[in-house]
Amino acid sequence: MMKVGIIGCGNISQAYIDGIRRFRNLELAGLADIDRKAAESKGAENSCPVMDVEEMLSDAAIETVVNLTVPKVHAEVSLQILKAGKHVHSEKPLATALVDGENILKEAEAQGLRVSCAPDTFLGAGLQTCRKLADDNWIGSVTGGTAFMMSMGPASWHPNPFFFYQDGAGPLFDVGPYYVTALVHLLGPVKKVTAVNTMGTAERIAGHESVKGRRISVETPTHLSGVLEFHNGTVITMVMSFDVAAHGHSPIELYGTRGSMKVPDPNTFGGNPEIFTTDSNSWFSVPWSHGYGTNSRGIAVADLAAALETGREQRCSGKLAYHVLEVMHAFGKSSASGRHEAIVSTCERPAPMAAGLMDGDIV
Ligand SMILES: NC(=O)c1ccc[n+]([C@@H]2O[C@H](COP(=O)([O-])OP(=O)(O)OC[C@H]3O[C@@H](n4cnc5c(N)ncnc54)[C@H](O)[C@@H]3O)[C@@H](O)[C@H]2O)c1
Repeated sequence: MMKVGIIGCGNISQAYIDGIRRFRNLELAGLADIDRKAAESKGAENSCPVMDVEEMLSDAAIETVVNLTVPKVHAEVSLQILKAGKHVHSEKPLATALVDGENILKEAEAQGLRVSCAPDTFLGAGLQTCRKLADDNWIGSVTGGTAFMMSMGPASWHPNPFFFYQDGAGPLFDVGPYYVTALVHLLGPVKKVTAVNTMGTAERIAGHESVKGRRISVETPTHLSGVLEFHNGTVITMVMSFDVAAHGHSPIELYGTRGSMKVPDPNTFGGNPEIFTTDSNSWFSVPWSHGYGTNSRGIAVADLAAALETGREQRCSGKLAYHVLEVMHAFGKSSASGRHEAIVSTCERPAPMAAGLMDGDIV
């Protein structure tokens, strides 16, 4: 069993505490937070040891630390973890600046350590079933597709909506990692991005009871419209927006030479894939071929432990997360330059999951 510590005991931490305890190859060894009270409260709720960050980093028994801090300090905290000689699994994005993402990968390589990064939703039943359908050639060779995450954003309902509208957030950096990672998992790495970014309004009004009526200054594009060209030739039209009241599109659709596929929301582990084949001339829903269809956040940490055991690459690799980060940055670069932006980094498609696993197991 791999001993795991968590740094960052906010909203998402409970899902990770439950997730880590679900897998037989992981042991939750401690919780830490810059805000000691946040760690103490989570520790008490979950009967888990609480430590200071420094104490966790100097605990030789802890092999991997999960970084659940806020995006602007992801890089700083992940580097701290690596410098302490521990593997890291970070929440998304890997970093906000590309250069910081690069530094994390370099540090890990220099130390012989692993970097794993969210999202891990693509290891769930919905996306793994889509992967099997694509690999088994149900829709033939994929020519094009769409990826849409469009809503009015979190201004009306989130208790702390302000940061979503600041630089380094917006719909692309907040939710885009789920979509781009799912696409790379299905289609392989991205070659070029072309995009135009804009915003609906320069100000929003907060709606949650605790902040009702407060003005939110919009400092980042909230409507990003791009085209991703993949190395395998597929062209995906992608829109990430906090400026859409309603629409009728699926989260992701793929169009192949033999049919089409509706891919479920990549921000979940489940959802039912739908397939249209030219042979059947109709849409049908496809049952899951794989497990982990319920919230399985933390499955990437179990995958990292299994990867260390056998020496294989972890599926949610730092290299994949860096590639996704570069693709997201290319939206802004292309919008500013008016040109196609070539993606310099690349990565392998992560290995598909095994089917028929018992809950709590991973190989
Ligand atoms: N909340 C969600 O539903 C959700 C879903 C998916 C992913 N995420 C991602 O998870 C991460 C955390 O999100 P959250 O909603 O839990 O945030 P949060 O603000 O609720 O919690 C973050 C915690 O990190 C701590 N922290 C901040 N800087 C630190 C530092 N330097 N050292 C130690 N601790 C520090 C804070 O004190 C806080 O307790 C983010 O990257 C977010 O994008 C969140």
